[in-house]
Amino acid sequence: MTDRKIVLITGASSGIGAATARRLAADGHHVVLGARRVDRLAALAQEIRDAGGTVDHHELDVTDVDSVRAFVALAADAHGRIDVLVNNAGVMPLSRLDALRVDEWNQMIDVNLRGTLHGIAAVLPHMRTQGSGHVVNVASTSGHRVDPTAAVYCATKFAVRALSEGLRQESQDIRVTVISPGFTHSELADHGGDPDVRAAVQAATKQLAIPASAVADAIGYAIGQPVNVDVSEIIVRPTAQG
Ligand SMILES: NC(=O)c1ccc[n+]([C@@H]2O[C@H](COP(=O)([O-])OP(=O)(O)OC[C@H]3O[C@@H](n4cnc5c(N)ncnc54)[C@H](OP(=O)(O)O)[C@@H]3O)[C@@H](O)[C@H]2O)c1
Repeated sequence: MTDRKIVLITGASSGIGAATARRLAADGHHVVLGARRVDRLAALAQEIRDAGGTVDHHELDVTDVDSVRAFVALAADAHGRIDVLVNNAGVMPLSRLDALRVDEWNQMIDVNLRGTLHGIAAVLPHMRTQGSGHVVNVASTSGHRVDPTAAVYCATKFAVRALSEGLRQESQDIRVTVISPGFTHSELADHGGDPDVRAAVQAATKQLAIPASAVADAIGYAIGQPVNVDVSEIIVRPTAQG
């Protein structure tokens, strides 16, 4: 471990976010965990402390800009700086467009896209004042290709890649990284969407998926580079994924 960073992670209560918290805490960074399920965050925080790491956790709803601002303000007040934000929270209720599951479209836009923007809005003033910082946005291989039943999810992930590139171009002293995972073991396919599509994704995940720690390792690599090295994007997917 070289330098200890203050790292905020959204959606840290399961899957990739939880694995990232474990990996970065093991690297010696201080992790600040956010999600709606605080009981899960508390259990993970205890696990990290038992392993010798340092951690805080707070309830967070990324769809609510005031919740995101409060989450970032608590961390800034406690630690005096924000070194890294991992914008990881996401949902993926998949269905065909003609199923007209408009509430789920809006949920994906609110969590995956607006939530990412809320995170950027909350940390950017701190990072500009510091003259340094790192925003890691978790997109997807679905930010690179479109598949039936995934149009809206893909739209949010293409958008996350687009806004990440814009932020990167506007930033001389803030690093911006997009992490695009393929099929990864997590709870992502367990909630919402068309039941038949959900079953198909769960079957593909069971057959193919890589562990969430593989994605966490990529995030750890990007964060661990020197400040003048911006790892702009990493795609991490199962070798057998088409
Ligand atoms: N697993 C994959 O195959 C895969 C592939 C490509 C990209 N990704 C992306 O990876 C990221 C993490 O997903 P995952 O696979 O680890 O799935 P996951 O296990 O379902 O984790 C999603 C996380 O997002 C949080 N979340 C959802 N809505 C939220 C909200 N309104 N406010 C705050 N947190 C919220 C959840 O916490 P609470 O419910 O406790 O709030 C949970 O911690 C997502 O952006 C996803 O799109 C995953």
